[in-house]
Amino acid sequence: MKKSKPEKYILIIDFGSQVTQLIARRLRELKVYCEIMPFQKITKKEFKSNNPAGIILSGGPSSVISNYHPKLSFNILKRGIPVLGICYGQQLMTSMMDGEVSSNSNSSEFGKALISKTNESPIIKGFFKNKKEQVWMSHGDIVSKLPEGFKIIASSKISPNAIIADDLKLLYGVQFHPEVFHTTNGKKIFENFVNISGADKNWTMSSYARKSIDSIKSEVKNEKVICALSGGVDSAVTAILIHKAISKNLTCIYVDHGLMRENETNEIKKMFKESFDIKLVVVNASKIFFKKLKGVKNPERKRKIIGNLFIKIFEREAKKIGNVKFLAQGTLYPDVIESVSFSGGPSVTIKSHHNVGGLPKKMDLKLIEPLRQLFKDEVRNLGKELGISKDFINRHPFPGPGLSIRCLGVVSEKKIKILRKVDNIFVSQIKKYNLYDKIWQAFATILPVKTVGVMGDNRTYENVCCLRAVTSIDGMTAETYKFDHDFLMETATKIVNEVKGINRVTYDLTTKPPGTIEWE
Ligand code: XMP
Repeated sequence: MKKSKPEKYILIIDFGSQVTQLIARRLRELKVYCEIMPFQKITKKEFKSNNPAGIILSGGPSSVISNYHPKLSFNILKRGIPVLGICYGQQLMTSMMDGEVSSNSNSSEFGKALISKTNESPIIKGFFKNKKEQVWMSHGDIVSKLPEGFKIIASSKISPNAIIADDLKLLYGVQFHPEVFHTTNGKKIFENFVNISGADKNWTMSSYARKSIDSIKSEVKNEKVICALSGGVDSAVTAILIHKAISKNLTCIYVDHGLMRENETNEIKKMFKESFDIKLVVVNASKIFFKKLKGVKNPERKRKIIGNLFIKIFEREAKKIGNVKFLAQGTLYPDVIESVSFSGGPSVTIKSHHNVGGLPKKMDLKLIEPLRQLFKDEVRNLGKELGISKDFINRHPFPGPGLSIRCLGVVSEKKIKILRKVDNIFVSQIKKYNLYDKIWQAFATILPVKTVGVMGDNRTYENVCCLRAVTSIDGMTAETYKFDHDFLMETATKIVNEVKGINRVTYDLTTKPPGTIEWE
């Protein structure tokens, strides 16, 4: 554990849940400093010098009933520190305190559930706004016998012990996940736990920035760093953080893969050279990208090809600069959990984000990813803290593989040109009607089908495009943006009139889940 934390912080012990970072995020929202540590790293020695004010045991994919399951090397429950166990954390707490956990055909509960109060406890202060509160469950086992001293605070149909507490020992367990959005008042549980633990509530984004800058300084020392610049917010914030830490030893490299949006490359050059005094190398690599993508239809192959090419180009540029030891990337937490299993547990790969899953196994450069624990909106706040302009900060996210994953099926320069024009018209319309900041992401895709149309008494046989606009907090879930019908009509007409090669415009109504935001 690092020494730079405040006196009274919260320690989150990770047992491999996909949503452990959401616990950290909820605590940050309450202005509480927290650290996440994998369960294997928790030792008695560390506790002697780093006593946390409170401990949260995360959920996880394992079962405490199985022979092998993640355990702690010593009993942290007997140190008088308040502990909150979530899902697997609750079950582990129960088994450590000699209660019982069991599994049968009726003990699984997935998705939304309703719980009702059976007893009072400080952990539920203000949580029950209704007789039954909505929570989000995801478990196969349940606590079937309470440890001595515990009482039931709330129950669901399937989990009699949905919330349990030993108020004297300050031990609390919840079967559901208060950290996820679908647990309506989940934040209250954390707020109460923070109050019970007495943790300091003075954490801010500027303290996060300071800590990041310090840790980059101590990791990088006098070595050289290259930063992969995509033109998006994430890599820009990464670059500025690193620039503040090591200034002259940073070179930003921007690879123009020919799959960028209209005028994007020029805007990036202008911004990085004029607004920030940062060394910037622009590599025009569109030829090689189109060559390698030729004939490739499969989305995962596209992503891997682009990811691998990016890294090769960075490595080549790094060699030119000489003696580069680090590669900085703007990888965010949602990129990590959807690409690889963060904890080593059995999570599923949804998409290989080019900055994570697409990395070749053998890399010559060490990675620095200072945003790896943050969500998009937190990165935006961090960017503001670092003095990046509001316009830049509020740009819609753009994926590393660029327009290639919006050009469905085979990618060609011709189709990308068409797509770029459509995208530009759509986004310009959105800006014209002051909708840009209300939307998380708006873009166009070009579909691998042609349809028949009629223009000026002539038959056309051209491409179909689809417009997509969604609202979201963090990109993990998304709602379709409800445009006014006239707006859509005006935009569609403009596209068909102004973009040669498109004769039909559609609008995507799918939410995430079940869809993802990007089409590939
Ligand atoms: P999905 O399509 O997974 O997208 O719902 C969630 C968010 O992530 C962005 N995205 C990416 N960003 N590299 C990135 O840097 C990628 O490979 C990538 N793929 C998707 C997407 O635009 C959305 O904001």
